[in-house]
Amino acid sequence: MSDDATPADLAPTPHTNGSKTPPAADTAPDAVRDGASGTARDKRTFRNFPVSFVRRTDRLSVGQQRAWDNYSQAYLLDFPRGLAATSVDPNWTLNPADVYGRTAPLTIEVGSGRGENIVAAAASHPDRDFLALEVYIPGLARTMLRAQHAVAARDEHATGAEASPWAAAEPGHPTLTNLRVAEVDAVELLDTAIEPGTLDQLWVFFPDPWPKKRHHKRRIVNPRFADAAAKALRPGGTWRLATDWAQYAAWMVDAIEGSVEDSEEPDWTPHPAFRNVHGPRAHAPRFDGRVLTAFESRGIDAGRDIADLEYVRL
Ligand SMILES: C[S@@+](CC[C@H](N)C(=O)[O-])C[C@H]1O[C@@H](n2cnc3c(N)ncnc32)[C@H](O)[C@@H]1O
Repeated sequence: MSDDATPADLAPTPHTNGSKTPPAADTAPDAVRDGASGTARDKRTFRNFPVSFVRRTDRLSVGQQRAWDNYSQAYLLDFPRGLAATSVDPNWTLNPADVYGRTAPLTIEVGSGRGENIVAAAASHPDRDFLALEVYIPGLARTMLRAQHAVAARDEHATGAEASPWAAAEPGHPTLTNLRVAEVDAVELLDTAIEPGTLDQLWVFFPDPWPKKRHHKRRIVNPRFADAAAKALRPGGTWRLATDWAQYAAWMVDAIEGSVEDSEEPDWTPHPAFRNVHGPRAHAPRFDGRVLTAFESRGIDAGRDIADLEYVRL
């Protein structure tokens, strides 16, 4: 992510790679749709706070496009939109029983990137359901492809016969039925589309750090996001976070546990719905369900320390 990147609201259309079937939401990515008519209008008028992401212009590779074409139907959540391509109709509520065909503890990953964590978790916990929220379309395509590779590995393990990951990406192959992905601003979906008190786990791993001070207002973790997390999580549910930016780790703690003397934001109060599982303001041991992602590797290679945080919903 570039510090001087185009603001999300003004970003041009991504993944218009001349392919056959662009995803439905791509007709006006992150442009504001004018209600049911779908016509674009001034997109700066509907959000009253800055978004945490930049819609990049990356195109889908051939393999990603194939995964999108073959597996959107199985993995990509379809729901009514609000004004922007990444928004959610505020009157829509996710019904996990409809989506997954069963009732199981639901984990949501916010900003799932290339899907390393959510796919590993979905593959190793068939008894749980998982939802990846991401605005970056090539990341969602990679997640679907990765899921099919996990299916191939599972087949290989079960049968002892070699299973080609590429065959698993062909149409009609079984999928990870406990995994869905959504092209959406996670802030909106969490805030309005989750039945209050139902989410089992919320993961926010390596969110964009927005290191420049003038961009701190774009950081996804803030007291407003903590409110949305508190609303969505069930009592006893878990909120896990990780970052490789020490200053963002301190900011996250401030946002959830309240400001202290040297806090950048002096007026944040402790969120009454969360308790730090490892003691006030303490970092957590690495969550053993968190796999190494490209973003974490980059932070480690740059010599940065990784901070994990774990909160329980009271
Ligand atoms: C630095 S990457 C980390 C990806 C992944 N969690 C990992 O650990 O590798 C942050 C991701 O969050 C996504 N993102 C940022 N704001 C978002 C939002 N409001 N809703 C959904 N995704 C968002 C970005 O598109 C990006 O892919």
